[in-house]
Amino acid sequence: MSTAAARVAALREQLARHDYRYYVLDDPEVPDAEYDRLMLELRALEAAHPELVSADSPTQRVSGKPGTEFDEVRHGVPMLSLDNAFADDDVVDFDRRVRERLKSTAEVEYCAEPKLDGLAISVRYERGEFVSTATRGDGTTGEDVSANARTIRSIPLRLRGDAPATVEIRGEVYMPFAGFRRLNAEAAAAGEKLFVNPRNAAAGALRQLDPAVTAKRPLAVYFYAAGEWRGGTEPDTQRRLLEQFNAWGLRTNPETRLVMGVAGCLAYYRALAARRESLAYQIDGVVYKVNRRADQDALGQVSRAPRWAVAHKFPADEALTTLRDVEFQVGRTGVLTPVARLEPVMVGGATVTNATLHNMDEIERKDVRIGDTVVIRRAGDVIPELVRSLPERRPRGAKRIVLPATCPVCGSAVAREEDEAAARCTGGFVCSAQRKESLRHFASRRALDIEGMGEKLIDQLVDRGMLATPADLFELKPEALAALERMGEKSADNVVAALERSKHTTLPRFLYALGIRDVGEATAASLAAHFGTLGALRAASVEQILEVPDVGPIIAAHVHGFFAAPANREVIERLQRSGVHWNEGPPVARAVGPLDGLTVVLTGTLASMTREQAGDALQAMGAKLGASVSKRTSYVVAGSDAGSKLKRAQELGIPVLDESGLAQLLRGERP
Ligand code: IVH
Repeated sequence: MSTAAARVAALREQLARHDYRYYVLDDPEVPDAEYDRLMLELRALEAAHPELVSADSPTQRVSGKPGTEFDEVRHGVPMLSLDNAFADDDVVDFDRRVRERLKSTAEVEYCAEPKLDGLAISVRYERGEFVSTATRGDGTTGEDVSANARTIRSIPLRLRGDAPATVEIRGEVYMPFAGFRRLNAEAAAAGEKLFVNPRNAAAGALRQLDPAVTAKRPLAVYFYAAGEWRGGTEPDTQRRLLEQFNAWGLRTNPETRLVMGVAGCLAYYRALAARRESLAYQIDGVVYKVNRRADQDALGQVSRAPRWAVAHKFPADEALTTLRDVEFQVGRTGVLTPVARLEPVMVGGATVTNATLHNMDEIERKDVRIGDTVVIRRAGDVIPELVRSLPERRPRGAKRIVLPATCPVCGSAVAREEDEAAARCTGGFVCSAQRKESLRHFASRRALDIEGMGEKLIDQLVDRGMLATPADLFELKPEALAALERMGEKSADNVVAALERSKHTTLPRFLYALGIRDVGEATAASLAAHFGTLGALRAASVEQILEVPDVGPIIAAHVHGFFAAPANREVIERLQRSGVHWNEGPPVARAVGPLDGLTVVLTGTLASMTREQAGDALQAMGAKLGASVSKRTSYVVAGSDAGSKLKRAQELGIPVLDESGLAQLLRGERP
């Protein structure tokens, strides 16, 4: 080996050691200046001897050019999620099920860990070398964020000691509070938009297209699980797995403890909840994992969550603040949603300035007035809600909230149909707010998925009269796009390319994208499955549409009315002429699963997952999703804020489930 090569190797070893001491052990051995000196020397040597540069060199953490999108990667072993427990009883039930399945009368040993509120990643090492990092994605396939992950100093580029041929290591990327506050202070100083919470900031940083930007964000990782593992022997307990991680130089959460039985779990939960505020990072609960690997294997998993682990969530955070004003936002179908403008307040680790008030009925029910002191609640990523007002603290002169008679955006009359909580702007396509929202919906991820066609771009295009209907999208010229604010030739080309890609879609997505009133993803999928082709659906009578499972008279009328309107027919024809297409086939039968034959209606805000996720999971198990509650509904799952659907279920005597009931359904049980 040349002297240069030997020196390069020695420097890398020293730097890796210092990284480990600093980022993993939190116990630096040398001052920062010494570290910087070593790094400078290494950079100089590598510049003089480019043949010595290698991917695992600490100088190569930020490498590669900004990309335009992330590649998809399939996980070697799926990344599971966790069932949630909210009340102590849910934990008792969990432990009982574990013991029943293990036929154990003795107490079970659990490994109890904080549940970090960050982003799950899977880091793949081959022969101890960093190969790639993926986000969780849908659990089977994630996004390749390797270039960004390499910039995170607590992800080693090489494992210490002996490592298996292949190992996927799972953990949570998060942003410590201190880094989050610093980042927001910098953003505020630069007049930029602030991040809502550390989780969003971490997610945004990890999904940056430019790794140089990620490198500047204060991200860290704690590792807690293994995926694919080839070569060597896997540790026989969760605790030993974490110890193995430490031996490899991977950070694990120091708050982890072994506990016995339910009592041990609950004591751990209480102790950590009490110290939650003093932790350096955001957690939203704790996780209990059956410690013994053999027991884990015996317990197995159901629908993407292991039977051997559960997340015990902390209750949602609440705070008091003042209601400054109420504004009305106009949605895609013209619905006016009252939004509370609040005196900024910290709730659950994020500053909240707005909260939804849903509709006028809610305002009346909660007896809210402008000037009131109000309770704000925030759970995880969910939109903050105004829980109630404190009338006993009402100042004199507090103002009643009135529904405007005309649309705040277009000035058209506002109408409130009888029996309907919602008030709507009657402007339809005249209303630019409705136009913008329909276009946003059309381009959104679960619809046509037109990347780059975001809120700001749509606003500009509509405001300049360049865009009115979805059909106009595909006639946009790159030169016209490039002339817009914050757009250059390159971004314009990207948008045009994204438009081109989005033309190949599926019938359910297309139907959903059209934004027919009350036709969500579930109904769009039922319509597509039932009719098979757009032509058949377009030609169908109201009676024929009514034959689709879960479609009632109101939706059938909306669907029929939509396709009968000449303006809509024209938009669809223009879209097809522009090349928007999908595969059509004969009507399909539904999948058979453990929940086959059940029709479930989801309503309100769920704390453990989005309604979309719950819907996907239920459908994957064979359940049908109902858009409205009828005699044919098997269950209504009601989250917080459930309104008319919950009421209807109670009237009809349909069983109503809470989140633990939902969890039961997702385990294939029928509560
Ligand atoms: S274990 C096989 N442990 O919570 C079990 N997950 O709700 C897989 N999370 O997707 C996950 N802290 O992103 C595990 N100590 C911890 C965790 C944790 C946070 C996240 C993770 C997972 C989600 C499930």
